[in-house]
Order: sequence, then structure tokens, then C-alpha cells
Amino acid sequence: MTTNKLSNDQIKNEGQSTRLFYDPNSLSSFNGYRIVHTHFDLNVDFDSNILYGYVQLDVKPLSNELCDCSSTIKTENKEIPNNYGNQVVLDSRHLNIKKVLLKSNDIEKSLSFQVDIERESLTIEMNDESKDSTISIIIHYSTSNTKCSALQWLTKEQTADRQYPYMFSQCQAIHARSLYPCQDTPGVKSTFTAKVKCPKPLTVLMSGLQTNYDENTNTFYFEQQQAIPSYLIAIAVGKLASYDLSPRIRVWTESSMIRQCQYEFEHAEQFLTAAEQLLGEYQWKRYDFLVLPPSFPYGGMENPCMNFLTPTLLAGDRSLISTIVHEMTHSWTGNLVTNENWEHFWLNEGFTSFIEAKILGNLDKANGKEVRRFHAAQQWQDLQTAVATWGAAHPYTCLVYRLNNTDPDDAYSSVQYYKGAAFLWYLEQDVIGSESDFDEFLRSYIIKFGRKILNTDDFIQYFQSYFPQAPSVDWQSWLYTPGMPPITHDFSTKLEEQCNQLATQLSPITKEQMNMLNAKQVAYLLNVLLNHKSTINRDYIEQLDTNCDMSKYSNCEICFRWYQLCIRVKFEKYLDNIFEFLKVIGRMKFVKPLYAEFKSSWPELIPRVQTFFDEHKKYMNPITVKQIEIRLNSQN
Ligand code: BES
Ligand code: ZN
Repeated sequence: MTTNKLSNDQIKNEGQSTRLFYDPNSLSSFNGYRIVHTHFDLNVDFDSNILYGYVQLDVKPLSNELCDCSSTIKTENKEIPNNYGNQVVLDSRHLNIKKVLLKSNDIEKSLSFQVDIERESLTIEMNDESKDSTISIIIHYSTSNTKCSALQWLTKEQTADRQYPYMFSQCQAIHARSLYPCQDTPGVKSTFTAKVKCPKPLTVLMSGLQTNYDENTNTFYFEQQQAIPSYLIAIAVGKLASYDLSPRIRVWTESSMIRQCQYEFEHAEQFLTAAEQLLGEYQWKRYDFLVLPPSFPYGGMENPCMNFLTPTLLAGDRSLISTIVHEMTHSWTGNLVTNENWEHFWLNEGFTSFIEAKILGNLDKANGKEVRRFHAAQQWQDLQTAVATWGAAHPYTCLVYRLNNTDPDDAYSSVQYYKGAAFLWYLEQDVIGSESDFDEFLRSYIIKFGRKILNTDDFIQYFQSYFPQAPSVDWQSWLYTPGMPPITHDFSTKLEEQCNQLATQLSPITKEQMNMLNAKQVAYLLNVLLNHKSTINRDYIEQLDTNCDMSKYSNCEICFRWYQLCIRVKFEKYLDNIFEFLKVIGRMKFVKPLYAEFKSSWPELIPRVQTFFDEHKKYMNPITVKQIEIRLNSQN
């Protein structure tokens, strides 16, 4: 086996060449000044649900000669501004800015500033401050108790243990600006240090390494020595327990869930070792993770040193571990090699999804090829669903899309994940034709772009220079054309065929047939049914339930698909279960399709659904609330 150690020196030697870039989702003056270090000094207030304190931004002015320019989408000529005069503009969403100070040689001086609520910006006047050295700006502020989109505050009754309140963040894609004033673009990477005080006996976790703890004041200290973009800043505060899964891996969660986590993620060290074998040495020292309350809006979030995971992965049979493999993989693709703006999101998620399937294969010594192919087949199926949901001509079904005036959350779907993974599969299998050569390329790509940012053009150029003899690729169709990919792969495996057969047989599926399938296959089978709208009807679904008792499944990947089928054919029997599910679970992968299905298949029920939503939205994550509102208000 080849192991390629990505040494610290190797990466640092590549240098931090500064280049100008474009980001339609940040108004900050990142082409005039760059934040290089961020220090937080914050207090967590559970009485008013705010964070307050200050942030110190160490900002480096850019001089034109240092920058090499690159455009975003080939076909367009972008104007990239980098002359902001004497102003530092930051992204700032509903923050209460109290004062702004300039700090030099321990002297602090007030700076004047304007907040633009509409544009979500904070403009700081630098007057005639020197443009040649790093400047420290200190901003005293507090977050909004009602409009902070990054934070969810839970009362003690909303937690599993019901004893203490809880708070957690979700900054990707552009919510960091509601947590602190910053250059909220993946193109700017900063190290950070933090001091955070919270009430006893709660614990603070952040996306860095804990460096200190003051027991008297319950103050936690953190440090992240690797420069990271704002979307990877994370914080969580709650009454938490932990368990060491290996010398470098610790799982955190509420006490009542710790045993389940211990079992479900017992093999985490093996996953991380397998990832290192493929991608090079793990660069973040510790790999800890927090299993959150069920309202967490994603399956997982790759916050460095402290991944966040949904508790819906706790299936009790380790059948949903692919998500932790995915988040771990982001430690290389995403957190070391980062898309320069959200239009190139596929460089984060497509690579990660592709590598996730590879690692799952590598972990299975006996059946690796099949396992990888079956995982790729599931991804392809999810891609079909996502393309059908948008409509095959929709611009958001392009691998690279435009985000002018669009919140990336509104364009988010599985397309960039699995069209991206399919594209890399095509490059590996059809264009290069050798898995080991492609693995070598991936390692070299990580060395080349690690601790930097890149866009799609950079990737194409690097691929072409690495494989000069490779046959030509239809980049245009893969990258910039909507709909399913230009090439359909055959991922067929026995695992998949078994499901297809059952889904298409004329006689109803029997209990014995169903019991032969593992959890992933059941989910796959339900997907086949969901993707073939015409064949399913109320009788079919009712018969399936009579034969197989679908209520016995507690695996969320199975439940949400089954519920979607029930809504589609108006099968009332499961309505209570569906509302209970929607009350507790906020993971958008499950919740968005259920609301959308109500809207399109069961319009008579919409008044009830709307009342339910209005009653519960105050307990829901702000990110999820916005996405459900979009679906309930849509016209179809
Ligand atoms: N980084 C994403 C989550 C994300 C993406 C949050 C964009 C906000 C904006 C994370 O790595 C992810 O992809 N999560 C997936 C799970 C994965 C196994 C596909 C999810 O939440 O479903
Ligand atoms: Zn991801």
C-alpha cells in the first residue's frame, strides 16, 4: 500500500501566495485587506440567548503586486475590486456593534464605523492608518437574540437530559456573519484563539484545540493553529459527557446518549487510519466530534478538530457510519483544500463524497469493490432524485452554478455532491482507467492545494498538467450543463440488483423478501419506488405495510423515505408518526422532502401542516425554518 505523508513542511513550503478572488456572497473588502488571525473573547448568556464580548481581527493590507488574479467562471469576465481606499468592510448580520478600536503597541484608539442593516455590512474608517503592516481591530458587540441565523438556543426541556440549556452553531455557508463581524467567504483563511465563559456546569466546545480551562470562572480557552475560513468556526455549549474512542478521538454528547455513541462510532479510529492511508497524514492533531440534539440541521458538519454530527446516525447497528467517514474526509477536501467561493461547492462536496465511497470500499477487505460500487449507486440514485426535484433544466443542477443575490442555502441540494462524485468516478474509471494512478493524483492535488483555495479552472488546469496524455474530457457538459451527467455509469452490484428486482416484480413484496435486505438496501428499495412515481399507488403501499410492517423500522434513512411514500399516496395511518418525526427532527435532508411532498401530493392537508409548523417553528433551527418557509410558500 502506498502511504503518502503530507508533511507540515511540504505544505508550508508551497507558501501562502495571496491572490485576488471573487465571491458573490460576501461584501467584505477581502481584496483590500485580509484577516490573518481572529481572537474571540465571549460570554454565553442563557438568560437572553446572546453571545457578548469582543473579537480582535488582525488584518493585513494587500498590495497589488503581491496578488495574482484568477477568474471564476470561464465564460465570464469578472471585475474584481481591490481598492477600498481607507475602509475595512466586514460582513455583519444583525450584530449589535458597540465600539470599534484600533490597537497598536497597546494603545487603543476609537475608529468610526457604519452599520448597513440591509446590506449586512460593517464599514470601518481607517483614516490614515498605515497600509504596510498588520493592523489589529477590536470590535465590541453582541449577537441578536432573535435574528442570529448561526445559533440555535435550546431550553433545558428541549434537550435529551432535560437539565440544562444548550446552544450550538452552524456557520456554513454564510451564517458566520451573524456570529461575529468577519470576511465571511471561504476564500479567506485565518487562525484563531478564543476565551469563552459560560455558566457552570456547562462545557464549551469549539472548532480548535482546547488549551486551558479556568475552573473558578468556568472559562474555556481554544486555539486553531491552521488557518481556516469563517464557515468552519463553530461553538457549542451544553451539559456534555465524553468518551475516548482512541488516543486522538473523543466523542462528546449529552450523558443519556453517550453509550449509544460509544457503540455506533467504536471504529472511528479505523476510519481515520483508512483516510490517512489514502490521503496522507491527518493535519489537525485531534479528531473529536459532538453528537448534537436532533434539531441539528445537517447530517454532519466538518468543523475542524470537532466535527458536529446528527443523532439520527445512531441507528444501533452502525449502518449509517458513512456520514462520519464523509465528515472526516473533509479534513482534507474542504478544510485543507477549500473552494474559493460557494459557486465551486462541488470541489468541497463532490471530492468528499467520491472519496467517502472509496474509503468505505477500502475498509471492507473482503468485499471492497462491491461496497464502493453500491455506495456510488446510492449516490447516483440521490442525484436522480435531486435533479428531478429541481427539474432537469434548472441552473442549480449544474456542477458549477451562479450565486449572485442568492443565499447558498437556497441553492443547496445533493447535485453538487453526487454529480461531482460521478464526474470524478468518470475521470478515474473512463479517462485515466487506473484507480491507483488516480489515488496518486488525489494525494498530489491535496499537497498542491492544501492550505489554499481554488476554483474549478484551477482544478482543470492541474488535472491537465498532471495527466498530459489523458484523452479529452467534455468539461463543458459536465461542469456547466444542467441535468443528469452526459455519461451514465453502470454501478450494478448484487446488492443493488436484489432491490431493483423486488421493486419491479409484479407480486407484492413479501416479509421474507424484505427481511433478506440490510438497512441500506431497504432505503435503496424505497428510493427506487420514490423515483418511479407511476408504479406506486395507495394499494401498493398499504399492501407493503401489511406484509412487512413498516412501523418496525427506526432507522431514519428508512423512516423518512417510507413517510414520503405515505404522504404521496395519502396513507393516513402514518400521519401521527410523521408529525412526531417533524416535531423532533430538524435534519434538512429528511424534513425538506417531507414538507415538499405534503405541498405537492396532499394539498388538502396544507392548512394542518401550516398550523403545525407555525406552532413549532420557535423550537426549530433558524436555518431549517427558512428552508421550510420557502417550500410551504412555493407555488407548486
Ligand atoms: N459541509 C456539509 C454540510 C453543509 C453544506 C452545511 C453546506 C451547510 C452548507 C457536510 O459535510 C455534509 O455534506 N453533510 C451531509 C452528510 C453527507 C454524508 C452527505 C448532510 O448533512 O446530509
Ligand atoms: Zn460534506
